[in-house]
Amino acid sequence: MRVIFIGPPGAGKGTQAEVISRQEGIAHISTGDILRKNVAEQTDLGKAAREYMDAGKLVPDEIIIGMMEKRLGEKDCRKGFILDGFPRTVPQAEALEELLDRMGLCLDAVILFQAPDEIVIRRLSGRRVCRSCGAIYNKRSKPPGEDDRCDKCGGTLYQRDDDREEVIKSRLEVYKGQTAPLIGFYRDKGLLVEVDASRESAEVVADINRSVKGSQ
Ligand code: AP5
Repeated sequence: MRVIFIGPPGAGKGTQAEVISRQEGIAHISTGDILRKNVAEQTDLGKAAREYMDAGKLVPDEIIIGMMEKRLGEKDCRKGFILDGFPRTVPQAEALEELLDRMGLCLDAVILFQAPDEIVIRRLSGRRVCRSCGAIYNKRSKPPGEDDRCDKCGGTLYQRDDDREEVIKSRLEVYKGQTAPLIGFYRDKGLLVEVDASRESAEVVADINRSVKGSQ
């Protein structure tokens, strides 16, 4: 299975990617997670990306494309992958197309997570993430266990810097201006599958499984 998840911030791409990648035994590649790790470790990549991320803007295409060329060549991608948060602009989508061509691979589907602004804003304001293993929680829909610690590894939970209200607004605008054009790009290629992401996680996962397995 080789799929892309696109959709507004907070639509549930990371949450459902975690479930499906485990179920299929394929790589879950989140550009946001890779970037946040680099920011935390203060690598050159992290230093270059930080100011864009804090402002809710996109990191420049050349940085992202170089990072993904390297990541997609790693061994765990051979069986398949879910791209969560990449591509996010038309130049990134074109670069991915070229890269997959060179690797002799093709995509099975591009899943569009659809959810209205009020739902994604509510989800993002309640999101908490484990600092150690990256597990995603939500104060309302998926509360963590005791003492606000991660149920899986006991790590501490934190609120992402870009989940502040003013940054969420800017991320939604960036999505509509720079990422939404990908909807037409992939629809024209016959790859787009639209999913109602405002429903419960289990229903969204079942829908994705049905659509992707039907297209393989
Ligand atoms: P990134 O980390 O990719 O952020 P995003 O796309 O804005 O997506 P999110 O992680 O916010 O949302 P999600 O859809 O994964 O939702 P989640 O599953 O967590 O990118 C961050 C930044 O990095 C960008 O702003 C940019 O600066 C940079 N970047 C990354 N990729 C880039 C690229 N390709 N090019 C340039 N720059 C790039 O769910 C949200 C909450 O809702 C959670 O609390 C969850 O528990 C809950 N939830 C999920 N599903 C449900 C459900 N069905 N019902 C109820 N609650 C739910």
